[in-house]
Amino acid sequence: MASDIRQTERFAFTLNGREVTFEGDPSMPLLWFLRDTLALTGTKFGCGVAMCGACTVHVDGAATRSCVLPVDAVRGMSVTTIEGVADTAVGRAVQEAWVDLNVVQCGYCQSGQIMSASALLSDKHAPTDADIDAAMSGNICRCATYLRIKAAIHQAAKALG
Ligand code: FES
Ligand code: FES
Repeated sequence: MASDIRQTERFAFTLNGREVTFEGDPSMPLLWFLRDTLALTGTKFGCGVAMCGACTVHVDGAATRSCVLPVDAVRGMSVTTIEGVADTAVGRAVQEAWVDLNVVQCGYCQSGQIMSASALLSDKHAPTDADIDAAMSGNICRCATYLRIKAAIHQAAKALG
């Protein structure tokens, strides 16, 4: 007979530059811990199956879908969310370009878009349109703000020199 006793673990990781302690079932998706336990609701729940990008955060700098990532996977690692991304020069430049070009429409997808764009610009300082298409293709926008997103990424790249 299957047991319904859940495993509980306690461990730390870095979140937006500060150490946080997780205690609970380590198979919990990181997104649940961020939103429901820590009330960091800037990261959005969209599809829940790694198909839309609304839940994108950085894990050790890489754009990662937090809806399907067990919190166990970030043990000892560094996680950045939309609430912390402006603490980096790249994240700040991206957010400023977003505001400057009025990228946002309804806004639901946009924290994920900004996190993917910031990860791209940290990796490639002068991305081509093809680089942007490749990096951003997993971030869906039902308001179709794609052209403004692309323009804002180019503008942020220029601002960062
Ligand atoms: S909610 Fe995670 S990719 Fe859609
Ligand atoms: S701005 Fe509405 S879903 Fe992207």
